Amino acid sequence: MSHSTAATITARAGIAQDTAFGAVTPPLYLTSTYELPAFKQPGQYDYSRSNNPTRDTLADALCHLEQGARAIVTGSGMSACLLALQLLGPDDTLLIPHDCYGGSYRLFTNLAQRKQAFKLQIVNFQQHDWVAKVTAAKPAMIWLETPSNPLLQITDVKAVCQLAKSLQAKVVVDNTFLSPVLQQPLRLGADIVVHSTTKYINGHSDIVGGVLVANDPAIGDELKWWANCLGVTGPAFDSYMTLRGLRTLVPRLQLQQQNTAELVSFLQRQPLVSKLYYPGLVDHPGHAIAKTQQTGFGAMCSFDLAAPAEALPVFFASLRLFTLAQSLGGIESLICHPGTMTHASMDAAAQQTAGIGPTLIRLSVGIEAAADLIADLQTGFNAVANWLATTPVSNNSERLASGRADNRAADQQFRLNPALTAFW
Ligand SMILES: Cc1ncc(COP(=O)(O)O)c(C=O)c1O
Repeated sequence: MSHSTAATITARAGIAQDTAFGAVTPPLYLTSTYELPAFKQPGQYDYSRSNNPTRDTLADALCHLEQGARAIVTGSGMSACLLALQLLGPDDTLLIPHDCYGGSYRLFTNLAQRKQAFKLQIVNFQQHDWVAKVTAAKPAMIWLETPSNPLLQITDVKAVCQLAKSLQAKVVVDNTFLSPVLQQPLRLGADIVVHSTTKYINGHSDIVGGVLVANDPAIGDELKWWANCLGVTGPAFDSYMTLRGLRTLVPRLQLQQQNTAELVSFLQRQPLVSKLYYPGLVDHPGHAIAKTQQTGFGAMCSFDLAAPAEALPVFFASLRLFTLAQSLGGIESLICHPGTMTHASMDAAAQQTAGIGPTLIRLSVGIEAAADLIADLQTGFNAVANWLATTPVSNNSERLASGRADNRAADQQFRLNPALTAFW
């Protein structure tokens, strides 16, 4: 591809490249295997776990967008994370932030504790002593997620990469919350970028997928080998869908960010919001860094509801547009309670350390009319205000604690029975 702006790369991904029939839209290659031109003569493609033309078209576009050397499209965001971890051995230390996505946290902690796949250290990059802590940990790999899920905390990618270089550590950045349109970690010095393409890159909540983009071709080739070996490469059909979604990534994000700005300004004036988390706010602790390393503040925001946790069902039940669901980044607005949903695999102590409070609510803002979204949230706040005015206050913390215990029990069960992964 010769075009370098995100709008052009995304809109033109795979367009008008079909040499067989001149199809403008790239064909979907639903084949598991490929005919050899002749005995002992391998063709360009041999088996779709290794390579598939539709998946390759998506990988090329994402590689170009992130300005990397190699991209590997995987079957989920988690398999992209798992793939990056293949660079580590049992004596290596993986250093992770204290507030990453709950599923990543579960993968890191379980691989470290139950499989001894690597050693694990957790650091709070928001504290002033992070440099000393990272240096002391002697990591082989540093994992970053910025903005973080669900508190939208910002980490200075350039500063971490500079330190990592001096420690000969690799830096992996989970760029899911922004997409390459709003942040390009490889340009800030990172070695690897991962995405859950399930989110903004696909943007329509109709597939699950991931991608890993490496800066160094040798590392990319090694991980491509692992992707085939482990069988974590993404399906052709999902790649086709993701390519289709990718074409509108730039205008989708523009609309989603505009809506988020309007919602944030509404939430700022809302008495039932005790704390608002959005890096676009000038008083957000990461605002200045976000301005330098991002080209937009994104379309995710979180807030603490200024009411007992018992009011949460009242709030959620009164909403008509914000759908109560896991995931994010689609064109439809979603709302979630991280403590019992996306981050339920973190125990109470880990949630507390990460700053995930009992009434924290996360919004993934879609492309509906901003006025309608605001009206929807206003209905929710009115319902909570009404509930507060009519309900005698009981022991909310006790109820919350029992809710958390239920989640932990579910997660333990889930660990024993992989079939329950459907919950995630
Ligand atoms: C930041 C982040 N990384 C990774 C993942 C995992 O992606 P997937 O659900 O596609 O496996 C998620 C999922 O929510 C996420 O939010």
